Amino acid sequence: MHNRLYVTRGGATRELAEQIAQELEQAGLTVDLQPVTTPVDVAAYRAVVLGSALYFQRLMLEALRFLTQHAALLAQRPLVIFSVGAEMRKGTSAARQAADTWVRRSLAALPNIQPIALEHFAGAVELHRLSFWWRLLVLITFGERGDWRDIPAVRAWGRALAPQLDPAAMLPAADPQSESEQGREAGY
Ligand SMILES: Cc1cc2nc3c(=O)[nH]c(=O)nc-3n(C[C@H](O)[C@H](O)[C@H](O)COP(=O)(O)O)c2cc1C
Repeated sequence: MHNRLYVTRGGATRELAEQIAQELEQAGLTVDLQPVTTPVDVAAYRAVVLGSALYFQRLMLEALRFLTQHAALLAQRPLVIFSVGAEMRKGTSAARQAADTWVRRSLAALPNIQPIALEHFAGAVELHRLSFWWRLLVLITFGERGDWRDIPAVRAWGRALAPQLDPAAMLPAADPQSESEQGREAGY
């Protein structure tokens, strides 16, 4: 079983994607963890999990490019999207609602993109992660800094996700017929 976990921009999202990938692997799935900008044959993956940081109330451009480019294939397999942003540090339902609105608005132009699961995680704003100009921007505009990531919660989400990505992998004994029908593995 192969599932692909793509990530975008900087360290915070990639590190959360690594945690999720570990959980999926522990559940028996094969995970191919790649930056979203790596050229990929989506047809070769069974499911795709896409993580993107939020910047300026949008999913990252690279994530949207990927979704646009592969919309037809993504519509034929389980797609999961998670966002990583500072808003979720607040831990309120209003913050979750805001993150959800930003992601759904980012996806509005892509009607074929219908994720089976959509989740939002708190990220990190730390100067050492950023290049000079981004640091400057943060210093000028973004008051609060810190690392608000809740790794146990992210891992628990990854554990719960596994059966949705590949129910067959969760069965005690795989059916060889359905295995062959599944063919080459498809996976973000
Ligand atoms: C300039 C800038 C704009 C940001 N805009 C948002 C935003 O609109 N919503 C949000 O929740 N977080 C926002 N963030 C926080 C990032 O999403 C957060 O730091 C995330 O963890 C970055 O992940 P990365 O390290 O994978 O890029 C912003 C951060 C910066 C530096």
